[in-house]
Amino acid sequence: MPLALVTGGAVRVGAAITRALAAAGFDVVVHARRSLSQADALVQELRDAGRRAWVAPADFATPHGPLELAEQVRRRHPSLDLLVNNAASYEHLAFEAITRERLESMLAVNLHAPFLLTQALLPSLRAADAACVVNITDMAVTRPYTATHAFSHYLAGKAALEQLTRAWALELGPAIRVNAVAPGPVAIADETTDEQRQDILRRTPLRREGSPEDVARAVVFLATAPYVSGQTLRVDGGLSIA
Ligand SMILES: NC(=O)c1ccc[n+]([C@@H]2O[C@H](COP(=O)([O-])OP(=O)(O)OC[C@H]3O[C@@H](n4cnc5c(N)ncnc54)[C@H](OP(=O)(O)O)[C@@H]3O)[C@@H](O)[C@H]2O)c1
Repeated sequence: MPLALVTGGAVRVGAAITRALAAAGFDVVVHARRSLSQADALVQELRDAGRRAWVAPADFATPHGPLELAEQVRRRHPSLDLLVNNAASYEHLAFEAITRERLESMLAVNLHAPFLLTQALLPSLRAADAACVVNITDMAVTRPYTATHAFSHYLAGKAALEQLTRAWALELGPAIRVNAVAPGPVAIADETTDEQRQDILRRTPLRREGSPEDVARAVVFLATAPYVSGQTLRVDGGLSIA
């Protein structure tokens, strides 16, 4: 069976990606930081369905977190077929309120961690027959969709990850394909007022917010699309072209 590592793979979008990959035939390493009980339950669910699965804890806000995760994976598996860089930090903060500390901790999780983790796992990815990296970015990188959302430090990290997607696709091919999925609004009820949400939906051609499963489907597609590399697939109901 091919093996996938999903960072932040225990909850919300990450959990949907983990389940969809397992359904598509992948064994899965489920990385988690705080959601360890959800990760344990998900791993049990996958094992009950006949997959090999295990939990790998790591905190990407610490300097050694990404490398500790890579080491856990390398110790158990000689090769890795798919790395999904999904884990991310997110907060609303006006530009003038973003301190150096907030900027650095945001970039540590959303940029440095996928960079260092992917780098540390290169030998494992190169040991696979046809490996693939999927970075989860954000459609708002190309088109911020609401003026009330202040998160420029978050967008900076996601924009850089999208550029890394293209840089790595050039540098790591033909052995490793690298693509990104850029979700639009997915399960945003907690982060928006009803008025903001209605405004977003009015401007979205498909008139609904995305589900974690919508994002997961795109990840499975890219993981199994042998002639696609260096691309960003926007899963946003068409909001980016509206
Ligand atoms: N939801 C949306 O509308 C939306 C839109 C565009 C892009 N995205 C992107 O899609 C991905 C998933 O979104 P989501 O809404 O499911 O995110 P979420 O609910 O905020 O989950 C974030 C995940 O990242 C992990 N994480 C956070 N800080 C971490 C740290 N310091 N070290 C290690 N792991 C950490 C969390 O792990 P634990 O829970 O184990 O701590 C969790 O699994 C993210 O990359 C996000 O930026 C989401």
